[in-house]
Amino acid sequence: MVDIHSHVLPGIDDGSKSMDETVEMIRMARDHGTTILVASPHADTQYAYDAERVDSLLAEARTLAGPGIQLVRGCDFHLMFDNIEAALREPMKYTINQKGYLLMELSDLTIFPNTGVLWRQLEEVGMKIILTHPERNPLLRQRLELVQEWVAEGRYMQVTAQSLLGLFGKKAEDFARQLLDLGLVHFVASDAHDLRGRPPRLDLAFQWICENYSPRLAELLFIEHPAAAVRGDDLDLKDFPPQVREKKRGFWGRLFGT
Ligand SMILES: [Fe+2]
Repeated sequence: MVDIHSHVLPGIDDGSKSMDETVEMIRMARDHGTTILVASPHADTQYAYDAERVDSLLAEARTLAGPGIQLVRGCDFHLMFDNIEAALREPMKYTINQKGYLLMELSDLTIFPNTGVLWRQLEEVGMKIILTHPERNPLLRQRLELVQEWVAEGRYMQVTAQSLLGLFGKKAEDFARQLLDLGLVHFVASDAHDLRGRPPRLDLAFQWICENYSPRLAELLFIEHPAAAVRGDDLDLKDFPPQVREKKRGFWGRLFGT
């Protein structure tokens, strides 16, 4: 599996607290089926993003954690004016593996009416927007139509693995399920911050999608889409989402093979 969102590097945000914890987190991810892990430190009002520092921590973590998992650089990019300006100056700097996909975090307190306009500016210089954990945003939970509009305009949605397991509460779980039912989820990622409360594991959520939706959808959300994002390739969405197609066919459709 490919995990596009994690806070595994030490001392640069509210994620890992030490290089020892970092190494354990990376090994935990590897031991539970993650083969590519994106380290995506915050860039927000509290934490500045220093790409060179992130690269040097990544190099150290690679050496210490050993083989079996590939580590790449990303960023948990908060929507704010300074960030937009900086990203317009260096379009690939904040994106996953510097290939164009940008993890975009919105405030929990307000949704700027010009959000779409700001995103368009980023898209015009080659970035593709992946909105992180809409199911955990209380304002977005009241604005399903906004999520639908954004997806229709070509933005992608990333749900947190633990939300599916109910660990961010019933409201987040229910909204995640609603988004999945409507085919509005493109990625599942761990958004790991530590070893216990928010661990870098995707395996249980993968299994949850297999059981509640389909193994094919799990492959897309945990493997194919995130792998394409790491490569910088377009997502192949022509038959997406597979589970809704199956539901739409219904009993008679299945019986007659239509
Ligand atoms: Fe995050």
